[in-house]
Amino acid sequence: MTATVIDGKAFAATVREKVAAHVTRLKEEHGITPGLAVVLVGEDPASQVYVRSKGKQTVEVGMQSYEFKRDIDITEDELLALIAQLNADPSVHGILVQLPLPAHLDSDLVINAIDPAKDVDGFHISNVGLLGTGQKSMVPCTPLGCLMMLRDHHGSLSGLNAVVVGRSNIVGKPMAQLLLGDSCTVTIAHSRTKDLPEVVRRADIVVAAVGRPEMVIGDWIKPGATVIDVGINRIEKPEGGTRLVGDADYASCAAVAGAITPVPGGVGPMTIACLLANTITACCRANNLPEPEGLTA
Ligand code: GUN
Repeated sequence: MTATVIDGKAFAATVREKVAAHVTRLKEEHGITPGLAVVLVGEDPASQVYVRSKGKQTVEVGMQSYEFKRDIDITEDELLALIAQLNADPSVHGILVQLPLPAHLDSDLVINAIDPAKDVDGFHISNVGLLGTGQKSMVPCTPLGCLMMLRDHHGSLSGLNAVVVGRSNIVGKPMAQLLLGDSCTVTIAHSRTKDLPEVVRRADIVVAAVGRPEMVIGDWIKPGATVIDVGINRIEKPEGGTRLVGDADYASCAAVAGAITPVPGGVGPMTIACLLANTITACCRANNLPEPEGLTA
């Protein structure tokens, strides 16, 4: 079997189109421009690339982008004061603090200072608890993007066996909660799981989010299963230079799977698209307006 390739780049473009249409409606019918504030501390090159990309896409869908770049030696009190200012600003509907933060700042403290209603990353402890108890919350962007692609491919996920490989707070754990919410039978596996290949072989849906390049191989995949690859790893090529690979070995998995997301061009583009979707959701909730359909969990 050769797997269907789930085109995340194209899917993300359709999500952005839906977001843009919603932005137009909010502006024309309600006089509201959704606003997203991104806070970047320090000059980590990868973070700078992410933040630039977020800002560009925010503007492209018609929303207001606010960027707050702060020196690496900002104090915790200064950063908390900035977050308090953004919490109080009615033109800001979403707040994202780019991670990782420098070591002298307590990330949990900073994230939990964000108004949960503006927490478009879904990292605030209140949103984690709401998601875990099946209540309306802000949902982390990468797992939300994976869920959207899975729903689009499968229709209903009810009763399917899902194995999430990886237990991070940003991807693995919320992904498992979302799949459970869609009535999958969910296993969270990780690098220490005993007989990992055997566990993965039971899965109708495999979400690879373990952070190890090409760890999940075709031999582990049940024929016809769907493989969602969250990994983004840069590895050295034998002939020199580097290339991006996922946490799944694409060639061997694609030979067995029913569907698979490529790297790059799979889950990656969905993350920012879902950040924009979350900003619309936060803006609608803040203004007691109906939420956009198909852009939330
Ligand atoms: N750094 C890398 N990915 C992310 C993300 O999704 N959100 C935040 N806040 N920081 C990140």
